[in-house]
Amino acid sequence: MSALQSLYRAAKPLLFRIDPERAHTLTSLAMRGITPFVKDAALSRRESFELFDRKFYSRIGIAAGFDKFCHAPGYIHKLGFGFIESGSLTPKPQRGNPKPRLARLPENEALLNKMGFNNPGFLRGWKNLRARLAETQPSYQLALSLGKGKETPLENAADDYVYCLSLLKGDIMSEYLSYIAVNVSSPNTPNLRALQKGKAIRALVEKCVAVSPRPVVVKFAPDFDSPKAYKESLEAALQGGAGGIVISNTTTNHALVSLPVQLRDFGGGLSGKPLAETARHYLEATLKITKGKVPVISSGGVFSPAEARRRIDLGADLVQVYSGFIFYGPDFARDFIRL
Ligand SMILES: Cc1cc2nc3c(=O)[nH]c(=O)nc-3n(C[C@H](O)[C@H](O)[C@H](O)COP(=O)(O)O)c2cc1C
Repeated sequence: MSALQSLYRAAKPLLFRIDPERAHTLTSLAMRGITPFVKDAALSRRESFELFDRKFYSRIGIAAGFDKFCHAPGYIHKLGFGFIESGSLTPKPQRGNPKPRLARLPENEALLNKMGFNNPGFLRGWKNLRARLAETQPSYQLALSLGKGKETPLENAADDYVYCLSLLKGDIMSEYLSYIAVNVSSPNTPNLRALQKGKAIRALVEKCVAVSPRPVVVKFAPDFDSPKAYKESLEAALQGGAGGIVISNTTTNHALVSLPVQLRDFGGGLSGKPLAETARHYLEATLKITKGKVPVISSGGVFSPAEARRRIDLGADLVQVYSGFIFYGPDFARDFIRL
């Protein structure tokens, strides 16, 4: 166990007593201060592989929503992560839902969030990420996630994605992004998930692909009414030209845990360990249809390095963590590399 992991273990009981959002900010700040002294996971000395026509040094990365402000913290790669998906960004800045909007379920190693795309808006977020891309070490990849603005009517949703993508297309720096995720699966923006359905997703992806400078990766939810409904949506996204799939976002199936009384009406999306089985199931369903034609990124319930390995063994090209990183601690990606 690294010194950093021991430090995290010692601080965790305290951190878990304060508001989760504040704990996230505090930990990020502390990591920024500490990691310059951390021995590099030396990803660049590892064998690389190509995905999205880019070089990756590790299959494990950080899921969207962790770096909403697009600072793409350099400590991510120092900890051994191969990529980070920053965002999701919407065209205009958004405050998100009122707090509290993030809750921990420690006994379940799970989180419940209804953030509602709090983000600095595309222009500011991209400016931040652009600065990071200019100095990025070649040993980790950056990706960007886009979402729909809360106020944008559903029928104009495509305009939001196309607006951001068009600006990216006009900027030579976007070449350094590995992929661009089109997030249509957050449960916290009203009606967003309607965009996942058959015809809607095909039309949206076609419009996005037409202007995108980089592969368009669609992020789906794990809450389809039936396997057939998911298959139809997935096939439609592929027909529209999707260059990859992230499966999956958080789930609205709160029956996977027994919620404490004070959180029964909280709403939002559930992530972490209880999502693992569903996420595995959706991954397998996805791989049967994509058949290796486009990269598949597994997200949801990757609660341990061994679980990350299991997703790769199932056939995932990349694996993302969010909740698991918070519960497990900073050694997550290093321990995965060692497996
Ligand atoms: C606090 C929080 C914020 C999130 N924000 C986003 C987001 O902005 N965009 C997105 O595509 N997914 C977002 N997600 C979903 C994660 O990227 C991930 O898909 C989900 O949490 C399942 O993975 P996990 O079980 O490893 O946490 C968020 C998750 C959490 C917990």
